[in-house]
Amino acid sequence: MRKNRQTAEKEISILTLDDDPIITSTIQAYFERSGYQVDVENDPYQGIERVREHHYDILLLDFLMAPICGDQVVEEIRKFNKEIFIILLTGHKSMAPPIKTIRQLDIQGYYEKSDRFDQLELLVESCVKSIWQIRTIRGYQRGLSAVVDELPAIYSLQNGDHLSEGVLDLAEKLLPSRGSFLMWGGDQEKPRVWARGELPALDFEGFMAEENWEEGDLLQKDGCLVCRMTDEDKRTAGCLGLSLGKKAGEGSIQFLRILVRQVSAALSNSRLHAHVNRQNERLTQAYMQTIETLRFVVELKDKETKGHSERVSVLAAALATELGMDEAEAESIRQAGLFHDIGKIQIPDAVLLKPEPLLDEEYAMIKEHPVTGEKILSTFRPFAHMLPIVRGHHERYDGTGYPDGLKGEEIALGARVISVADAFDAMVSNRPYRHGFSLEKAVGEIKSGCGSQFDPAVGKAFLSLLDKLGKDEFVRRFCDHTEEGVGGSLK
Ligand SMILES: [Fe+2]
Repeated sequence: MRKNRQTAEKEISILTLDDDPIITSTIQAYFERSGYQVDVENDPYQGIERVREHHYDILLLDFLMAPICGDQVVEEIRKFNKEIFIILLTGHKSMAPPIKTIRQLDIQGYYEKSDRFDQLELLVESCVKSIWQIRTIRGYQRGLSAVVDELPAIYSLQNGDHLSEGVLDLAEKLLPSRGSFLMWGGDQEKPRVWARGELPALDFEGFMAEENWEEGDLLQKDGCLVCRMTDEDKRTAGCLGLSLGKKAGEGSIQFLRILVRQVSAALSNSRLHAHVNRQNERLTQAYMQTIETLRFVVELKDKETKGHSERVSVLAAALATELGMDEAEAESIRQAGLFHDIGKIQIPDAVLLKPEPLLDEEYAMIKEHPVTGEKILSTFRPFAHMLPIVRGHHERYDGTGYPDGLKGEEIALGARVISVADAFDAMVSNRPYRHGFSLEKAVGEIKSGCGSQFDPAVGKAFLSLLDKLGKDEFVRRFCDHTEEGVGGSLK
């Protein structure tokens, strides 16, 4: 956008350098009348120093001077300043430097001195136009790089007040203003307004109506520049406004648009992220409820083993800690303990509850339950860590277990831990056809099973835990205390 003349000239500084003071003062008076800021210098060397020390947009330079000529002055200046626009003033056309020199020294034009300055004024105006174009481009570049610098901050903002304040901080940092506001729906249907600084009375509600926006996304009212924010479906979701106290320039408008686009995307992302998280949480809860229900169904089917999974999970987690595993590993084993027998849901009641010895095909059905359990749990990714544990909990250390006949450390460590906890609970609990073992007898079985059924390291951890806690505490923590459940001497 072209600035109006009055403003454009006020912001342009000129140095006029001529060894004739009458010429410099005449030029100064002429251009100051037009609104430019004009400084005067009559010594070529001093002139070079002034350009070095001060900012000038345009240099009006005499060609023929003493002790050095204008082209030498330009040569010196171009060594440290490539940006200043230079117009060379010559006494007569024949005395002008050759065109080759003008090009080489990057001189924007030359003027043949006369009593009238209108030609020189045209040349200066042409320079002013270019200077403003360069300033606009630089403004965009600065704005863009400022937005790019702030992108990580924009995208790391979290929902809520913190986010809104963060957006206003950014807007004010990038576009200085008297006041600012953000209107955004966030997670609520009715948009909220966050405002700070000096703001005129504004109709915030009105901003939500589509027809109020100029060029689709912009509004300039009472010195405020407001840009519409859209959601992921391109609907109006809010706006970001700055009180500039004047009509905004094209640069500020484009800049705010870029910022608003980024902020809109960040806010939408943040909202979608929160939405997905909530959905995920709901799904997880629903899945956990389903799995819990399945687990209870298994325990209800087989009343004799009621509470077995909980007890196994508590003892297995304690053994894991005793083995030196960290909290996360122990928790993983505790969860696997809860669900290790979930595959029994598929075993017909007639087989699962049969008091008589099982037929071979019935025993084959029982032996399917670790694989069925693995299948059920594999449908839920967060349970992936349990799969080898559930599948392997009936493997034996010597390789004679099922379903895969794995041996030693081929068996998941969690499965080796659960194997001990599972066997212990089965031994000390009462069954309709037998009384539960005494603690001593069960411990003896664990000891003698080390190296064949059990991992000796887990067996050792079991004995060490029993030793640390003592018999009473061990029984209190890990054994069944229901009237019918507790076995033998544990009562
Ligand atoms: Fe089992």
